[in-house]
Amino acid sequence: MEISHFKDLYLAELQELVSVEDQLAEALLRMAAAASHPALKDALVDHHAETLRQKERLVGILQKHGADPTAHVDQAMQALIRETRKMLGMLVGDDLRDAALIASAQKLEHYEIAAYGSAAALAGQLELRDDQTILHDSLEEEKEADAVLTDIAKGEVNQDALAA
Ligand SMILES: [Fe+2]
Repeated sequence: MEISHFKDLYLAELQELVSVEDQLAEALLRMAAAASHPALKDALVDHHAETLRQKERLVGILQKHGADPTAHVDQAMQALIRETRKMLGMLVGDDLRDAALIASAQKLEHYEIAAYGSAAALAGQLELRDDQTILHDSLEEEKEADAVLTDIAKGEVNQDALAA
């Protein structure tokens, strides 16, 4: 596909993000099932529900612009999720696994934070204020999800993993 206009670049970024959210939703459920600390399990399940809403927001924006929401599969997210699965397969012990789950989830979140930050900036450049607001809402949710994971890591999981 050739991209020769700024708006097409914006829509392509959104199409990537749909795929990112789609893959993440599935991965979060698997990660929640593998988690042991109740706070971590809950955080992953909560963010799974949020992820589905974020995907619907993106689909809504793309449909409004007449673009296909299923046009792209994001290979970077595929690779990050593959790494997560590989790491989980190597870990022995519940506490250590939880610490690794948080580290992996935060990599995934930071990728999303970067992608939403860029997409919101592109929307602003195009003066698509409604889009920008929606994308900014999702960006803030991603940052919050990341902060919750940091709290869980610092508050309990990493200390337990260190003591294990
Ligand atoms: Fe998300």
